[in-house]
Amino acid sequence: MIGHFTIDGKPVQFREGQTIMEAAMAEGIYIPHLCHNPEFRPHGSCRVCNVKANGRHVAACTAPASEGLEVENDTDEIRSERRTLLQMLFVEGNHVCPGCEKSGACQLQAVAYYTRMLSPHFTHFFPKRTVDASHPDVVIDFNRCILCELCVRASRDVDHKDVFSISGRGIDSQLVINSPSGKLGDSALSATDKAVSVCPV
Ligand code: FES
Repeated sequence: MIGHFTIDGKPVQFREGQTIMEAAMAEGIYIPHLCHNPEFRPHGSCRVCNVKANGRHVAACTAPASEGLEVENDTDEIRSERRTLLQMLFVEGNHVCPGCEKSGACQLQAVAYYTRMLSPHFTHFFPKRTVDASHPDVVIDFNRCILCELCVRASRDVDHKDVFSISGRGIDSQLVINSPSGKLGDSALSATDKAVSVCPV
C-alpha cells in the first residue's frame, strides 16, 4: 500500500511499514542522523533525527510513517534542538576536530556543520579515555565513541563475531572489546569487517 504524508509541507509517499526516515530517504529528503544506518535496523539512541510529527517529538528513524502525518524537520525549532543534542555529544566525549585524523570524513562533524553548531556551549567533561592500538591493522580511539552501537550491531549481525558490546549504564556506559585481554589485538576483528567501516566518527 502507498500512503502520503508531508515533511515541511512537501508531499512524501510511503509504503506500509516504512519509518519517517526511510520514506524521507527514498524521496531524497535529508533528516540528520547518527545512529541510523539504512543497512541496519533502527536503534533510536542518538535522537539527532528528532522531528515533530503532528506536533509531537519523535525519532524519525523509529517512528512509523502514517497517512496524513505532518512532519516538521528543517525548522528553526528543530535545528536548535538538534544543535543542543550535538553540543552535549561533543562535550561528553573528546572531539577535537581540528586535530582529528577523521576530520572531513566524520558524520558527527558533518551534522554539526549542517546544523550550524559554532561552539560546544556546555562545559567539556574531558573524560579520561584510551586509544587501543594493539591490533596490527585497526586503531580504536575511545575518545570519539558516541555509543551509537553501529559497530556492536555490525560485528554481531554482519560479521558474526560479537567483538564489541556496551557495558555500564547512563553516563558510565562505554564500548568494550570482547577478547581475553579486553584489547583489539587478541579479538577476532579483521580490517575488512563491516564493524570497522560502519563507525560514523
Ligand atoms: Fe534516529 Fe539516532 S538517528 S535516534
